[in-house]
Amino acid sequence: MSKFNVNLHEVIFSLSDALDLVGVDQIYHGKRVAYIAAECGIALNWDIKLLDDLFFAAVLHDCGVSNTAIHTRLTNFEGKNVGNHCDKGADLLQKRSLLASLSEYVLYHHTPWTELLNLDLSEAVKFGANCIYMADRVDILVLNSLQTEPNILASKEQIRRKIKAKAGRWFQYELVDIFLKISASEAFWLSMEQVQHSGYVHSWMQHNSTREIDFQDLKDIILIFSHIVDAKSNYTAQYSEGVATLSRYLGELFQLSEHQCDKLELTGLLHDLGMLRVPDKILAKPDKLTQAEYFIVQRHSFDSYEILKNITGFEDIARWAAQHHERVDGSGYPYHYNDQQLSIEARIIAVAVVFQALIQKRPYRDKLSPQDMMLELKQQAEAGKLDKGVVLMLEKHFTGCLQAAQLLGGIIQ
Ligand SMILES: [Fe+2]
Ligand SMILES: [Fe+2]
Ligand SMILES: [Fe+2]
Repeated sequence: MSKFNVNLHEVIFSLSDALDLVGVDQIYHGKRVAYIAAECGIALNWDIKLLDDLFFAAVLHDCGVSNTAIHTRLTNFEGKNVGNHCDKGADLLQKRSLLASLSEYVLYHHTPWTELLNLDLSEAVKFGANCIYMADRVDILVLNSLQTEPNILASKEQIRRKIKAKAGRWFQYELVDIFLKISASEAFWLSMEQVQHSGYVHSWMQHNSTREIDFQDLKDIILIFSHIVDAKSNYTAQYSEGVATLSRYLGELFQLSEHQCDKLELTGLLHDLGMLRVPDKILAKPDKLTQAEYFIVQRHSFDSYEILKNITGFEDIARWAAQHHERVDGSGYPYHYNDQQLSIEARIIAVAVVFQALIQKRPYRDKLSPQDMMLELKQQAEAGKLDKGVVLMLEKHFTGCLQAAQLLGGIIQ
């Protein structure tokens, strides 16, 4: 397994764009919560290690939410029913060696202070989790108020009053006090609006410089995000992982280097990140999509690129992910590249995506037989859509490819 030269903070922060897309209309919720929580932590003079954990736990705090329905429920300020997204998110983080320290913050990010107080947890976790809870509720109030009043300053005092009213019950007194202090200025609120564009985030990334990370550790983290994509629709359960394993297998058959194969596997896991922007009701629709719905779905490969392009060291991954619906005759999207412009890796991913769709059950058809799968792939190759060489390789190693796509090789859960 090869090593990747990446800045872990940059990877997490960029991929969290995908989490923020789940809410569709509430883009950058995670980033604003991180901003509010970190500003409170800084004002309280927390040490840099705690601030770092707080910031990234806040960025990822809703990683257990994968559909817009749950997200909508969480936008009710007083709402008690938060589902199991805290447990799910904490569980996802617990399994990653590099992120396990964030897990408890996420587990308790909707637990009121009166309950948290009596739990057997470190002070850092109690304060950190409660700080994220308060920051989350502040942002929910902001989002709700923006629906009727576009100028955030008009709602500032009302939001501060609502948070103050929860002091001692939902939130620890000291945290509320510090929030009231820092949120007295207009600049606090105006910076929050700009948080995704400002240099704010950049300063956090610098705490953690570029370093070598093992493929397996990086994949571990990326699986969090591919699980979120796969969980979005029942039809796509383990879909990304299947594409990843098959793409790697095909890459090995073409004798690509180990590093290229590692990148192919990561591309498979990440290629459909942009799908998180598509509303659930379109993804679950059993009938044919309308033209307008199709346009919404069609932008997903470009959106995947938009997220991945921000990660230094992921240039190839971003490019191949962007091209997973391109066709060798130039009839694909979003660039209309042809076989002269598509690398072998992009052509492998395109075939793996089609094959993975064929082996999945769909609401509108039964499971296909191996013969029918192969027939379909060959027809698409003959018609100039899929790369003939890749389809031929898949046919030659059909059983191995099918096993790879069905994850029989075993993959981390
Ligand atoms: Fe939450
Ligand atoms: Fe949240
Ligand atoms: Fe796709």
